[in-house]
Amino acid sequence: MSTSVALSRGYNGILPRTTRLSDESYLDFVETFRGIAGYGTFATVAAEGEKAVAEALGETNDTTDIKDIKEVINKLPLPATWQRYMRTHQEMMWRRTRGSFEPFQDDLVNAMDDAQNKGPGKLTLDPNFKVPNYARREIHLQPGGYTDDPIGGIVYHYGTKVFYAGANDQDELHAEIVDTLTPPEDGKVDKILDLACSIGQCTLILKDRYPDSEITGLDVGLPMVKYAHWQAVKRGVDVNFVQGLSEETKIDADKFDMVLSYILFHEIPVRVIKETVKEMFRILRPGGTFCIYEFPSAGPNMPASQRWMIDYDSINNCEPYSPGFVYMDFHKELKDAGFNVKPGPKNSNGFLQTIVATKPA
Ligand SMILES: C[S@@+](CC[C@H](N)C(=O)[O-])C[C@H]1O[C@@H](n2cnc3c(N)ncnc32)[C@H](O)[C@@H]1O
Repeated sequence: MSTSVALSRGYNGILPRTTRLSDESYLDFVETFRGIAGYGTFATVAAEGEKAVAEALGETNDTTDIKDIKEVINKLPLPATWQRYMRTHQEMMWRRTRGSFEPFQDDLVNAMDDAQNKGPGKLTLDPNFKVPNYARREIHLQPGGYTDDPIGGIVYHYGTKVFYAGANDQDELHAEIVDTLTPPEDGKVDKILDLACSIGQCTLILKDRYPDSEITGLDVGLPMVKYAHWQAVKRGVDVNFVQGLSEETKIDADKFDMVLSYILFHEIPVRVIKETVKEMFRILRPGGTFCIYEFPSAGPNMPASQRWMIDYDSINNCEPYSPGFVYMDFHKELKDAGFNVKPGPKNSNGFLQTIVATKPA
Protein backbone atom coordinates (compact mmCIF):
# COMPACT_ATOMS: atom_id res chain seq x y z
CA MET A 1 0.00 0.00 0.00
CA SER A 2 1.25 3.49 -0.79
CA THR A 3 2.42 5.46 2.19
CA SER A 4 0.14 8.37 2.75
CA VAL A 5 1.76 11.81 2.41
CA ALA A 6 -0.55 12.86 5.23
CA LEU A 7 1.27 10.50 7.52
CA SER A 8 4.81 11.41 6.49
CA ARG A 9 5.52 12.28 10.14
CA GLY A 10 4.86 8.66 10.90
CA TYR A 11 3.28 6.98 13.88
CA ASN A 12 3.82 7.04 17.59
CA GLY A 13 3.34 3.31 18.09
CA ILE A 14 -0.11 2.72 16.59
CA LEU A 15 -1.17 6.36 16.85
CA PRO A 16 -0.86 8.45 13.66
CA ARG A 17 1.05 11.67 14.22
CA THR A 18 -0.60 14.95 13.24
CA THR A 19 0.66 16.42 9.98
CA ARG A 20 2.59 19.27 11.64
CA LEU A 21 4.67 19.35 14.80
CA SER A 22 2.91 22.58 15.80
CA ASP A 23 -0.46 20.73 15.79
CA GLU A 24 0.97 18.04 18.02
CA SER A 25 2.33 20.65 20.45
CA TYR A 26 -0.97 22.53 20.48
CA LEU A 27 -2.93 19.32 21.08
CA ASP A 28 -0.49 18.28 23.79
CA PHE A 29 -1.37 21.50 25.56
CA VAL A 30 -5.11 20.85 25.13
CA GLU A 31 -4.67 17.31 26.44
CA THR A 32 -2.76 18.44 29.53
CA PHE A 33 -5.22 21.26 30.12
CA ARG A 34 -8.09 18.79 29.89
CA GLY A 35 -6.37 16.47 32.35
CA ILE A 36 -5.74 19.17 34.93
CA ALA A 37 -8.59 21.65 34.51
CA GLY A 38 -11.26 19.21 33.31
CA TYR A 39 -10.76 15.85 34.98
CA GLY A 40 -8.45 17.01 37.78
CA THR A 41 -10.83 19.59 39.19
CA PHE A 42 -14.06 17.60 38.85
CA ALA A 43 -13.84 16.11 42.34
CA THR A 44 -13.74 19.64 43.80
CA VAL A 45 -16.50 20.82 41.46
CA ALA A 46 -18.65 17.88 42.55
CA ALA A 47 -17.94 18.40 46.26
CA GLU A 48 -18.85 22.10 46.04
CA GLY A 49 -21.98 21.19 44.10
CA GLU A 50 -23.05 18.51 46.58
CA LYS A 51 -22.56 20.85 49.52
CA ALA A 52 -24.60 23.63 47.93
CA VAL A 53 -27.37 21.22 46.83
CA ALA A 54 -27.60 19.70 50.32
CA GLU A 55 -27.93 23.16 51.83
CA ALA A 56 -30.53 24.34 49.30
CA LEU A 57 -32.56 21.18 48.61
CA GLY A 58 -31.75 18.70 51.37
CA GLU A 59 -31.44 15.07 50.31
CA THR A 60 -31.88 14.41 46.58
CA ASN A 61 -32.52 11.33 44.46
CA ASP A 62 -33.20 10.60 40.80
CA THR A 63 -36.71 12.08 41.05
CA THR A 64 -35.37 15.48 42.14
CA ASP A 65 -35.95 17.87 39.24
CA ILE A 66 -32.65 18.38 37.39
CA LYS A 67 -33.67 22.03 36.86
CA ASP A 68 -33.54 22.59 40.63
CA ILE A 69 -30.09 20.99 40.84
CA LYS A 70 -28.82 23.13 37.96
CA GLU A 71 -30.26 26.27 39.47
CA VAL A 72 -28.10 25.68 42.56
CA ILE A 73 -24.85 24.39 41.02
CA ASN A 74 -24.69 26.70 37.99
CA LYS A 75 -24.46 29.73 40.31
CA LEU A 76 -21.22 28.52 41.89
CA PRO A 77 -18.04 30.06 40.37
CA LEU A 78 -15.95 26.87 40.11
CA PRO A 79 -18.61 24.69 38.38
CA ALA A 80 -19.40 27.56 35.99
CA THR A 81 -15.70 27.91 35.12
CA TRP A 82 -15.38 24.12 34.72
CA GLN A 83 -18.20 24.14 32.16
CA ARG A 84 -16.43 26.85 30.18
CA TYR A 85 -13.16 24.87 30.25
CA MET A 86 -14.85 21.68 29.08
CA ARG A 87 -16.61 23.27 26.15
CA THR A 88 -13.63 25.33 25.02
CA HIS A 89 -11.01 22.62 25.05
CA GLN A 90 -13.38 20.25 23.27
CA GLU A 91 -13.77 22.82 20.49
CA MET A 92 -9.99 23.45 20.40
CA MET A 93 -9.37 19.70 20.14
CA TRP A 94 -11.60 19.09 17.10
CA ARG A 95 -10.67 22.31 15.31
CA ARG A 96 -6.94 21.59 15.45
CA THR A 97 -7.19 17.82 14.84
CA ARG A 98 -9.37 18.20 11.79
CA GLY A 99 -7.37 21.24 10.68
CA SER A 100 -4.21 19.14 10.72
CA PHE A 101 -5.53 16.30 8.53
CA GLU A 102 -7.96 18.25 6.32
CA PRO A 103 -5.36 19.49 3.76
CA PHE A 104 -4.54 15.81 3.09
CA GLN A 105 -8.12 14.62 2.81
CA ASP A 106 -7.80 13.25 -0.74
CA ASP A 107 -4.65 11.39 0.13
CA LEU A 108 -6.23 9.80 3.21
CA VAL A 109 -9.42 8.85 1.39
CA ASN A 110 -7.36 7.28 -1.43
CA ALA A 111 -5.39 5.22 1.08
CA MET A 112 -8.63 3.94 2.68
CA ASP A 113 -10.20 3.22 -0.73
CA ASP A 114 -7.06 1.39 -1.75
CA ALA A 115 -7.30 -0.84 1.35
CA GLN A 116 -11.02 -1.54 0.87
CA ASN A 117 -10.66 -4.83 -1.01
CA LYS A 118 -7.50 -5.99 0.71
CA GLY A 119 -7.26 -8.56 3.49
CA PRO A 120 -6.68 -10.50 5.56
CA GLY A 121 -10.15 -9.47 6.85
CA LYS A 122 -13.16 -8.18 4.91
CA LEU A 123 -14.94 -4.84 4.84
CA THR A 124 -18.62 -5.28 3.99
CA LEU A 125 -20.45 -2.22 2.69
CA ASP A 126 -23.97 -2.02 1.30
CA PRO A 127 -24.29 0.70 -1.37
CA ASN A 128 -27.98 1.04 -0.45
CA PHE A 129 -27.30 1.49 3.27
CA LYS A 130 -29.22 4.47 4.63
CA VAL A 131 -27.85 6.19 7.72
CA PRO A 132 -30.74 7.05 10.04
CA ASN A 133 -31.02 10.74 10.90
CA TYR A 134 -30.64 10.14 14.65
CA ALA A 135 -27.11 8.79 14.01
CA ARG A 136 -25.99 11.92 12.16
CA ARG A 137 -25.72 14.24 15.17
CA GLU A 138 -22.28 15.73 15.82
CA ILE A 139 -21.78 13.70 18.99
CA HIS A 140 -19.05 15.16 21.26
CA LEU A 141 -19.03 18.15 18.87
CA GLN A 142 -16.98 16.19 16.32
CA PRO A 143 -17.38 17.95 12.95
CA GLY A 144 -19.53 15.70 10.73
CA GLY A 145 -20.08 13.28 13.61
CA TYR A 146 -19.43 9.59 13.04
CA THR A 147 -21.10 9.47 9.66
CA ASP A 148 -20.53 12.56 7.53
CA ASP A 149 -16.83 13.41 7.45
CA PRO A 150 -14.82 11.24 5.01
CA ILE A 151 -11.75 11.58 7.27
CA GLY A 152 -13.81 11.24 10.46
CA GLY A 153 -11.92 8.06 11.39
CA ILE A 154 -8.48 9.62 11.73
CA VAL A 155 -9.95 12.77 13.26
CA TYR A 156 -11.75 10.61 15.84
CA HIS A 157 -8.58 8.60 16.50
CA TYR A 158 -6.42 11.62 17.32
CA GLY A 159 -9.29 13.55 18.94
CA THR A 160 -10.11 10.73 21.34
CA LYS A 161 -6.39 10.30 22.10
CA VAL A 162 -6.61 13.84 23.49
CA PHE A 163 -9.96 13.10 25.17
CA TYR A 164 -8.43 10.16 27.05
CA ALA A 165 -5.77 12.58 28.33
CA GLY A 166 -2.75 10.38 27.70
CA ALA A 167 -4.25 7.19 29.14
CA ASN A 168 -5.08 5.56 25.80
CA ASP A 169 -2.34 6.50 23.31
CA GLN A 170 -1.73 2.83 22.53
CA ASP A 171 -5.34 1.67 23.12
CA GLU A 172 -4.51 0.69 26.69
CA LEU A 173 -8.08 1.29 27.87
CA HIS A 174 -9.49 -0.74 25.00
CA ALA A 175 -7.10 -3.55 25.93
CA GLU A 176 -8.39 -3.42 29.50
CA ILE A 177 -11.98 -3.72 28.25
CA VAL A 178 -11.12 -6.75 26.14
CA ASP A 179 -9.14 -8.33 28.99
CA THR A 180 -12.11 -8.06 31.33
CA LEU A 181 -14.72 -9.59 29.02
CA THR A 182 -16.81 -12.43 30.40
CA PRO A 183 -16.87 -15.37 27.96
CA PRO A 184 -19.73 -17.89 28.03
CA GLU A 185 -19.62 -20.39 30.88
CA ASP A 186 -19.02 -23.31 28.50
CA GLY A 187 -15.87 -21.55 27.23
CA LYS A 188 -16.84 -21.73 23.53
CA VAL A 189 -15.90 -18.44 21.86
CA ASP A 190 -15.88 -19.06 18.12
CA LYS A 191 -17.50 -15.80 17.04
CA ILE A 192 -17.33 -12.36 18.66
CA LEU A 193 -19.09 -9.14 17.69
CA ASP A 194 -17.72 -5.71 18.63
CA LEU A 195 -20.95 -3.72 18.49
CA ALA A 196 -20.56 -0.03 17.51
CA CYS A 197 -16.85 -0.62 17.09
CA SER A 198 -16.01 2.89 15.83
CA ILE A 199 -12.43 2.71 14.50
CA GLY A 200 -11.98 -0.89 15.65
CA GLN A 201 -9.71 -0.35 18.65
CA CYS A 202 -11.26 -3.22 20.64
CA THR A 203 -11.88 -5.24 17.48
CA LEU A 204 -8.18 -5.56 16.66
CA ILE A 205 -7.24 -6.36 20.26
CA LEU A 206 -9.95 -9.05 20.33
CA LYS A 207 -8.07 -10.93 17.61
CA ASP A 208 -4.91 -10.77 19.66
CA ARG A 209 -6.66 -12.18 22.75
CA TYR A 210 -8.92 -14.64 20.89
CA PRO A 211 -6.74 -15.59 17.87
CA ASP A 212 -8.88 -18.60 16.89
CA SER A 213 -12.18 -16.71 16.91
CA GLU A 214 -13.90 -14.99 14.01
CA ILE A 215 -14.14 -11.32 14.96
CA THR A 216 -16.54 -8.77 13.49
CA GLY A 217 -16.80 -5.05 14.16
CA LEU A 218 -20.08 -3.34 13.24
CA ASP A 219 -20.73 0.38 13.13
CA VAL A 220 -23.17 2.77 11.46
CA GLY A 221 -20.40 5.20 10.45
CA LEU A 222 -18.84 4.59 7.04
CA PRO A 223 -15.78 6.76 7.86
CA MET A 224 -15.34 4.72 11.05
CA VAL A 225 -15.39 1.26 9.48
CA LYS A 226 -13.32 2.33 6.49
CA TYR A 227 -10.61 3.67 8.82
CA ALA A 228 -10.88 0.57 11.04
CA HIS A 229 -10.43 -1.74 8.06
CA TRP A 230 -7.44 0.33 6.84
CA GLN A 231 -5.79 -0.11 10.24
CA ALA A 232 -6.46 -3.87 10.18
CA VAL A 233 -4.98 -4.19 6.68
CA LYS A 234 -1.88 -2.18 7.63
CA ARG A 235 -1.34 -4.26 10.74
CA GLY A 236 -2.22 -7.55 9.04
CA VAL A 237 -4.98 -8.39 11.53
CA ASP A 238 -7.67 -10.80 10.35
CA VAL A 239 -10.89 -9.13 11.51
CA ASN A 240 -14.01 -8.18 9.56
CA PHE A 241 -15.85 -4.88 9.55
CA VAL A 242 -19.36 -4.09 8.43
CA GLN A 243 -21.36 -0.90 8.17
CA GLY A 244 -24.62 -1.73 9.90
CA LEU A 245 -27.21 -0.90 12.50
CA SER A 246 -27.19 -2.24 16.04
CA GLU A 247 -30.98 -2.40 16.02
CA GLU A 248 -31.23 -4.29 12.73
CA THR A 249 -27.95 -6.08 12.06
CA LYS A 250 -29.14 -8.41 9.29
CA ILE A 251 -27.06 -11.09 11.04
CA ASP A 252 -28.37 -14.66 11.42
CA ALA A 253 -30.01 -15.64 14.70
CA ASP A 254 -27.87 -17.40 17.36
CA LYS A 255 -24.64 -16.54 15.52
CA PHE A 256 -22.36 -15.01 18.15
CA ASP A 257 -20.88 -16.50 21.33
CA MET A 258 -20.02 -13.10 22.76
CA VAL A 259 -20.96 -9.50 21.99
CA LEU A 260 -19.09 -6.50 23.36
CA SER A 261 -20.55 -3.03 23.49
CA TYR A 262 -18.37 -0.26 24.85
CA ILE A 263 -20.16 3.09 25.34
CA LEU A 264 -22.83 2.71 22.67
CA PHE A 265 -26.12 2.82 24.55
CA HIS A 266 -25.93 6.38 25.88
CA GLU A 267 -25.46 7.57 22.29
CA ILE A 268 -28.68 6.21 20.79
CA PRO A 269 -32.33 7.14 21.39
CA VAL A 270 -34.43 5.06 23.80
CA ARG A 271 -36.38 3.43 20.95
CA VAL A 272 -33.13 2.27 19.38
CA ILE A 273 -31.77 1.09 22.76
CA LYS A 274 -34.81 -1.15 23.18
CA GLU A 275 -34.55 -2.53 19.65
CA THR A 276 -30.80 -3.11 20.03
CA VAL A 277 -31.22 -5.10 23.25
CA LYS A 278 -33.75 -7.39 21.50
CA GLU A 279 -31.52 -7.68 18.46
CA MET A 280 -28.51 -8.73 20.58
CA PHE A 281 -30.65 -11.39 22.26
CA ARG A 282 -31.60 -12.66 18.81
CA ILE A 283 -28.06 -12.89 17.40
CA LEU A 284 -26.41 -14.39 20.51
CA ARG A 285 -26.52 -18.17 20.76
CA PRO A 286 -28.01 -19.74 23.91
CA GLY A 287 -25.42 -19.39 26.68
CA GLY A 288 -23.78 -16.46 24.87
CA THR A 289 -22.75 -13.33 26.77
CA PHE A 290 -23.42 -9.68 26.07
CA CYS A 291 -20.69 -7.66 27.82
CA ILE A 292 -21.71 -4.04 28.26
CA TYR A 293 -19.51 -1.11 29.39
CA GLU A 294 -21.63 1.98 29.68
CA PHE A 295 -22.57 5.28 31.30
CA PRO A 296 -24.10 4.83 34.76
CA SER A 297 -27.85 4.40 35.17
CA ALA A 298 -29.65 6.77 37.51
CA GLY A 299 -30.98 5.49 40.77
CA PRO A 300 -31.39 6.69 44.32
CA ASN A 301 -27.63 6.65 44.76
CA MET A 302 -26.62 8.77 41.80
CA PRO A 303 -25.15 11.96 43.28
CA ALA A 304 -26.71 15.27 42.23
CA SER A 305 -23.32 16.45 40.94
CA GLN A 306 -23.14 13.47 38.55
CA ARG A 307 -26.65 14.17 37.28
CA TRP A 308 -25.60 17.80 36.80
CA MET A 309 -22.49 16.72 34.86
CA ILE A 310 -24.47 14.38 32.58
CA ASP A 311 -26.96 17.17 31.91
CA TYR A 312 -24.07 19.53 31.05
CA ASP A 313 -22.56 16.92 28.76
CA SER A 314 -25.83 16.21 26.96
CA ILE A 315 -26.32 19.89 26.10
CA ASN A 316 -22.79 21.24 25.68
CA ASN A 317 -20.98 18.17 24.41
CA CYS A 318 -23.77 17.06 22.05
CA GLU A 319 -24.83 13.90 23.84
CA PRO A 320 -28.53 14.36 23.02
CA TYR A 321 -29.54 10.83 23.95
CA SER A 322 -27.56 10.25 27.17
CA PRO A 323 -30.26 11.44 29.62
CA GLY A 324 -32.72 9.06 27.91
CA PHE A 325 -30.36 6.18 28.65
CA VAL A 326 -29.38 7.28 32.15
CA TYR A 327 -33.00 7.65 33.32
CA MET A 328 -34.46 4.52 31.72
CA ASP A 329 -34.45 1.18 33.52
CA PHE A 330 -31.81 -0.44 31.31
CA HIS A 331 -31.42 -3.54 33.48
CA LYS A 332 -35.18 -4.17 33.20
CA GLU A 333 -34.94 -3.80 29.43
CA LEU A 334 -32.27 -6.52 29.32
CA LYS A 335 -34.29 -8.80 31.60
CA ASP A 336 -37.50 -8.24 29.61
CA ALA A 337 -35.64 -9.28 26.47
CA GLY A 338 -34.82 -12.61 28.18
CA PHE A 339 -31.27 -12.03 29.47
CA ASN A 340 -29.95 -13.07 32.88
CA VAL A 341 -28.30 -9.89 34.13
CA LYS A 342 -25.31 -9.60 36.47
CA PRO A 343 -22.82 -6.85 37.24
CA GLY A 344 -19.63 -7.19 35.21
CA PRO A 345 -16.05 -6.94 36.44
CA LYS A 346 -14.74 -3.62 37.76
CA ASN A 347 -12.93 -1.35 35.36
CA SER A 348 -10.28 1.32 35.98
CA ASN A 349 -12.74 3.86 34.54
CA GLY A 350 -14.84 4.04 37.71
CA PHE A 351 -17.47 6.16 35.94
CA LEU A 352 -18.62 3.26 33.77
CA GLN A 353 -21.00 0.52 34.82
CA THR A 354 -20.30 -2.95 33.50
CA ILE A 355 -23.00 -5.52 32.90
CA VAL A 356 -22.90 -9.14 31.75
CA ALA A 357 -26.19 -10.17 30.16
CA THR A 358 -26.36 -13.89 29.39
CA LYS A 359 -28.82 -15.52 27.01
CA PRO A 360 -30.09 -18.58 28.91
CA ALA A 361 -28.61 -21.84 27.63
C1 LIG B 1 -18.63 6.23 21.59
S1 LIG B 1 -18.54 5.41 20.10
C2 LIG B 1 -18.17 3.75 20.59
C3 LIG B 1 -16.75 3.55 20.96
C4 LIG B 1 -16.18 2.21 20.57
N1 LIG B 1 -17.04 1.10 20.94
C5 LIG B 1 -14.78 2.02 21.10
O1 LIG B 1 -14.38 0.86 21.27
O2 LIG B 1 -14.07 3.01 21.32
C6 LIG B 1 -20.21 5.15 19.57
C7 LIG B 1 -20.25 4.49 18.20
O3 LIG B 1 -21.59 4.04 18.00
C8 LIG B 1 -21.85 4.11 16.63
N2 LIG B 1 -23.32 4.02 16.48
C9 LIG B 1 -24.26 4.92 16.83
N3 LIG B 1 -25.49 4.44 16.56
C10 LIG B 1 -25.32 3.20 16.03
C11 LIG B 1 -26.19 2.19 15.55
N4 LIG B 1 -27.51 2.34 15.57
N5 LIG B 1 -25.67 1.05 15.06
C12 LIG B 1 -24.32 0.87 15.01
N6 LIG B 1 -23.45 1.81 15.44
C13 LIG B 1 -23.93 2.94 15.97
C14 LIG B 1 -21.22 5.42 16.22
O4 LIG B 1 -21.01 5.48 14.82
C15 LIG B 1 -19.94 5.40 17.04
O5 LIG B 1 -18.87 4.88 16.30
